[in-house]
Amino acid sequence: EKGGFSSFMEKEIHDQPAAVHDTLLGRSDESGRLILDELRIDPAELKKVDKIIVLACGTAAYAGLVAKYAIENWCRIPTEVELAHEFRYRDPIVDSNTLVVSISQSGETMDTLMAVRYAREQGAKTVSICNTNGSTIPRESDAVLYTHAGPEIAVASTKAFLAQITAAYLLGLYLAQLRGNIFSGQIKDVLADLNKIPEKIQTVLDSAEPLRELARSMKDEKSVLFLGRHVGYPVALEGALKLKEIAYLHAEGFAAGELKHGPIALIDEGQPVFVVVPSPRGRDSLHAKVVSNIQEVRARGARTIVIAEEGDEAVRQYAEHVIYVPETPTLLMPLLTTVPLQIFAAELASAKGYDVDQPRNLAKSVTVE
Ligand code: F6R
Repeated sequence: EKGGFSSFMEKEIHDQPAAVHDTLLGRSDESGRLILDELRIDPAELKKVDKIIVLACGTAAYAGLVAKYAIENWCRIPTEVELAHEFRYRDPIVDSNTLVVSISQSGETMDTLMAVRYAREQGAKTVSICNTNGSTIPRESDAVLYTHAGPEIAVASTKAFLAQITAAYLLGLYLAQLRGNIFSGQIKDVLADLNKIPEKIQTVLDSAEPLRELARSMKDEKSVLFLGRHVGYPVALEGALKLKEIAYLHAEGFAAGELKHGPIALIDEGQPVFVVVPSPRGRDSLHAKVVSNIQEVRARGARTIVIAEEGDEAVRQYAEHVIYVPETPTLLMPLLTTVPLQIFAAELASAKGYDVDQPRNLAKSVTVE
């Protein structure tokens, strides 16, 4: 049942091309129009939405952070992301023009469920992005957009995360289409780029051996840091969470720009730092800023492990290791740049002899508040 892999987590990492493909399947037509009939919220109501709040916990909340960048860029609708367990306790401002998007693999996370209930009581429209058919959160929401990752067995989430991001992109594109804004002419291009992602994930999977070797060599590290900007920031957070969960290794993700406001004091000789770099073909200043962050930590003795786009030569001189991923627009990059971080965590945890599928103290679905 593990399909020849050493763990469910390894299998699920390798299921990711299919998870993204299946989540995209049947949700647009040849002319590049989104068809999300399953949403079942009156399009006229959706057009009135003036604020989006994404609610989730853990990895799903990082998918929400990625969603914020995409939705705000494409739809120009102010979008907040909040941990579900924080949301209810601060008297949030929610009304009938608020769209609450919950993200949950299991559909049973109690914190997320309670937050969705609360939002609904306040009159918000609620959409659930969920991987489990008929689970509680979609049943209690106005609408559901299922991710088609297939059952996720390993406690640490991998393929569900990529499928959540994919579904959130589809929702963002659909809202842009409904509103017919300036961006809507480009939806077709984004869909074309999305459709190429599964094959590109496969390329990342097929070229991971040097990364695995690096992970094995790092099994005695005491702390690993992850830096990213823009959509690379949630990827950095996810990379750190995976290491904590399954390798019991201290790890932290930072927004790279935050370095000089404190965390750079942590850097000394030999400190491993992963840096997630945006496409050099995107907004120029963004790429240049991240390259200078690599330089800053390197100058203080860090071992820099850089995840960058194929062809990005600028990162080489400051990187001890470069892991290249195929070209894709920056907004879609998390679907590629996350994968090496998952592989790194799984390989390092198994090198330490841990059961990567059943980490200590954790349950697959957290059904208590
Ligand atoms: C991380 C992980 C958790 C879950 C979180 C939400 O690997 O598995 O952080 O992402 O507990 O779970 P769901 O998505 O089921 O609501």
